Parts: sequence; structure tokens; C-alpha cells
Amino acid sequence: MENSNPASLSRRSFLHLAYAALGSLAFLESGLILFQYLQPRLGEGEFGSKIKAGLVNDFPPNSVTHISNGRFFLVRLAEGGFLAVYQRCTHLGCTVSWEMAQNKFICPCHSSHFDQQGDVENPPAARALDLFAIEIINQEIWVDTAKPLSRQSFAPSQITYP
Ligand code: FES
Repeated sequence: MENSNPASLSRRSFLHLAYAALGSLAFLESGLILFQYLQPRLGEGEFGSKIKAGLVNDFPPNSVTHISNGRFFLVRLAEGGFLAVYQRCTHLGCTVSWEMAQNKFICPCHSSHFDQQGDVENPPAARALDLFAIEIINQEIWVDTAKPLSRQSFAPSQITYP
């Protein structure tokens, strides 16, 4: 039997709203679980995490070493400091290579050149290669590849010393 009491209708509306809200919440929660399941897992040593590049003494002064799992070049400058230079060109994102004979990074896509510190030597790239933060703990070099550090040009304050 239908109750035409306005208070009762209001209760019915409230219940409908509550069911709808609970249904929406369950739907959102399922979506969140599915999203988390589909996210790539970052393991230690993978790009996007902190990566151990090696020991300080593994890298002689004035050297450039490609750390492929971290997608960066570990540059040890002549005076002993380090830079972790992201391999991604700041023009349109191609992967630069280190050309030892020319002592520069070269982008194969539109021929931007960068010096050892990552500064632009030849456009179209308009700013220096990005860096990753370096931490040296007990002579171990750790590079945080979670977030590239954008910069306009090289500055001595960007160097990490052992
Ligand atoms: S993407 Fe490197 S120069 Fe264009």
C-alpha cells in the first residue's frame, strides 16, 4: 500500500539518493583499484626511481658514462664534481648520444649540440639538457630519476661533489 505522507516520500527519496551515492562510491573504488593495478611497478634500479650509478672511484675525472637503465649520462667533470644529465633532448624529446671524439652530446633528430655540462652549443634546442638530483652516500652515487630538473643553462651550483 502506497503511503502519500510527504515525510515518507522524503524518506524514500533519501534512500534512493543513499543507494545512488553508495553505488557511485563502489564504482569509483573499483576504478581506482583497476587504475592502481594497471600502473607500472617501479622497482629499485628502474627509471623513475632512485638509481645507484656506482662508486665515486668508478668514474674518472673528465668522463661521461651512459647509465642506460636510468636514461642519463653521469658526467664527472675535470675537477671531480658530478652531473646527472638526462638523455632527453630539450627541443622535442629525442635521445641524445655522447660523442666522445667531439666532446659533446648530439641529438640525431635536428642536430642540436650540447657541451659536457649539457649547455646548448647549437640550436634548435633553446635550453640546457635537464638534470637529475645526485646524492653521494658512503661513496655510492645515487641518482633520483623521478623528476628531471629543468634549467636554462649550466651553473656551478648544479654540481654535486663527493
Ligand atoms: S629533438 Fe633534439 S634537436 Fe630536435
